[in-house]
Amino acid sequence: MEFMKVLVATDKPFAKVAVDGIRKEIEAAGYELVLLEKYGERANLLEAVKDANAIIIRSDIIDAEVLEAAKELKIVVRAGAGFDNVDLEAATAHNVCVMNTPGQNSNAVAELALGMMVMAVRNMYNGTSGTELKGKKLGIHAYGNVGRNVARIARGFGMEIYAYDAFCPKEVIEADGTKAVDSAEELYETCDVISLHIPATAETKNSINRALVNRMPKGGLLVNTARKEVINEAELIELMEERTDLKYVTDIMPAADLMFAEKFPTRYFATPKKMGAQTAEANINAGIAAAQQIVGFLKDGCERFRVNKK
Ligand code: 3PG
Repeated sequence: MEFMKVLVATDKPFAKVAVDGIRKEIEAAGYELVLLEKYGERANLLEAVKDANAIIIRSDIIDAEVLEAAKELKIVVRAGAGFDNVDLEAATAHNVCVMNTPGQNSNAVAELALGMMVMAVRNMYNGTSGTELKGKKLGIHAYGNVGRNVARIARGFGMEIYAYDAFCPKEVIEADGTKAVDSAEELYETCDVISLHIPATAETKNSINRALVNRMPKGGLLVNTARKEVINEAELIELMEERTDLKYVTDIMPAADLMFAEKFPTRYFATPKKMGAQTAEANINAGIAAAQQIVGFLKDGCERFRVNKK
């Protein structure tokens, strides 16, 4: 049996119970687990990856420099959904397999999205009279694992649910009892609340812009538990200055957080650290799936959930 070193490199650590579960999987395979948490300085990551054969990460940046330093590396698993933090081309060039763990943390993110909606419609819990979600139109922008869970939970709130997804067939969306619309424009025009679940890609970056958000009806609420890069921050600020009815709540602090907070103290909220997937359950699900995928890859060459080219 070949000996392997598996590094868990998480600047934002998993719950301890999840780390225990990951360790169990890795050690049962006869491998060694090395833990690098809250490493802060990038130099610490560059040092730790030197002799790692496999790495489990979260939103940690794995770019060409890290891949260059990780001479023994065979696989990186992003314990989570979005892999925009990994340079896929550089990984392929270094003959490193990259995977994600789709669906494993999606309920946690969806619960937070609904929690943020309640917070926003209750005026950030400032004691003034707010509104209810019941009967409001919710627009789910991208109907993947998180979007579907948002629909399931929102149904319990009595919301009317719409979705737009450029890649998901309408029939799949409608099979859930969610109304599928034909374009993002139609979704924003129709819905009181928009919940973002698009990945950050070259096509989606800055795509949530003034023209799109301005289509929302009076009192519109934009909820972002996806990625900050998809928002055109300058245009959203401009629009919120003009339209004093709009609110923006986000789990991914914008680059212009201070400006948003200063200009819109009652209409804007950002979590200090992305916490959608920060639950024991999500950490256990995604962390253990990552460990199992690593063992399956190293022992049997299983490449399910591979996201980069060979
Ligand atoms: C994801 O893409 O899975 C989520 O954004 C969670 O990211 P995190 O692991 O950094 O909390």
